[in-house]
Amino acid sequence: MKIVNVVGARPNLMKMAPIISEMHRHPAMEPILVHTGQHYDANMSGVFFEELGIPAPDYDLGIGSGSHTQQTAQVMLALEPLFGDLKPDLVLVVGDVNSTLAASIVAAKTGIRLAHVEAGLRSFDRTMPEEINRILTDSVSDYLFTTEASANANLKREGIADEKIFFVGNVMIDTLLMQRQRALDLDVPSRHQVTAGHYAALTLHRPANVDHRPTLVGILEAIERIQRDLPILFPVHPRTMKQFDRFGLTSWVRTMENLKLLPPLGYLEFLGLIAQAGFVMTDSGGIQEETTILGIPCLTLRENTERPVTISHGTNRLVGTDRDRIISAAISARSETLPASRRPELWDGHAAERIINVIAQIGRQSDAHLG
Ligand code: UD1
Repeated sequence: MKIVNVVGARPNLMKMAPIISEMHRHPAMEPILVHTGQHYDANMSGVFFEELGIPAPDYDLGIGSGSHTQQTAQVMLALEPLFGDLKPDLVLVVGDVNSTLAASIVAAKTGIRLAHVEAGLRSFDRTMPEEINRILTDSVSDYLFTTEASANANLKREGIADEKIFFVGNVMIDTLLMQRQRALDLDVPSRHQVTAGHYAALTLHRPANVDHRPTLVGILEAIERIQRDLPILFPVHPRTMKQFDRFGLTSWVRTMENLKLLPPLGYLEFLGLIAQAGFVMTDSGGIQEETTILGIPCLTLRENTERPVTISHGTNRLVGTDRDRIISAAISARSETLPASRRPELWDGHAAERIINVIAQIGRQSDAHLG
């Protein structure tokens, strides 16, 4: 069974790592890895391959940055002839980035069966580019692998047939559980002259937060206040750094004495950073899930989440982007003891194995059908 697996952006990589490793172990599977090049800097892409032992991509499309339409269209134009040459039995995509959608449309249009890992998540906010990518990808997928019960319910409500939906758990958590000890061994807090439990970690990159000056300023005012009492370690996404410059905020941010600006970090260093933080402030999707498993309070700087299990079972709180709300949430996160988080169902380190079992079954059914 020839399977083309497509990655493009940083969060795809920790999801693909356990899947590709399980596929390589399966005698009936021939996995091929395609990197679209949506993310291309060494610290946004290459370092994850090295740390997570992902084999080098068989094809690197080198698409790079651009508007959403340009990026999606260019990935599609590059993938169509490649899929034509390779003639895979299955295309597998993960997550919700532009490369995920582009590969899904090409698979659907060229009649190749499509599997989507992390299907069914919905923020119900169509101003998020990822929400559009999720809805469209799911609508053309043949096999939808889900991480939480809300995703199953969303897909059913959208009319997706039950037999296409497979509740398998969370591949990103497979990677986290496998790498946690290596990350802790790095002793990240002491590398940055802070004490475990006595600092906050911050990430920020959603267009809704960083592409709109008043919103970004409100968040930064809250950060300015919080860092007076507690060191904050802040790996800055390239999009965000660009926006600081564009909005003339860079020198102000640099004057915040206890806010330590860092370049984007590799997987292990970042995991070590959040695993030992007092709390985390973020607008990322994946970090809400990682903090749930790590039991670290997570203040999500958004009004919604497509991952409600991180609130019902985990440590996540939706705080939004209002300055005062962020400050008071940070005060509570420092002073309150949260109830222990409960591990969401099937977030147990074996999600990739379950996916591969389902795919193997699909392969056997097709062989029987052809034979
Ligand atoms: C993308 C995903 C988002 C994901 C995020 C993780 C979409 C719609 N968005 O957002 O869901 O959470 O990745 O990082 O697919 N840049 C670099 N070097 C790189 C990559 C990007 O400098 O290696 C800069 C470029 O200036 C680029 C900007 O970052 O214009 C944004 O990159 P892009 O891939 O368009 O979106 P992200 O914001 O990274």
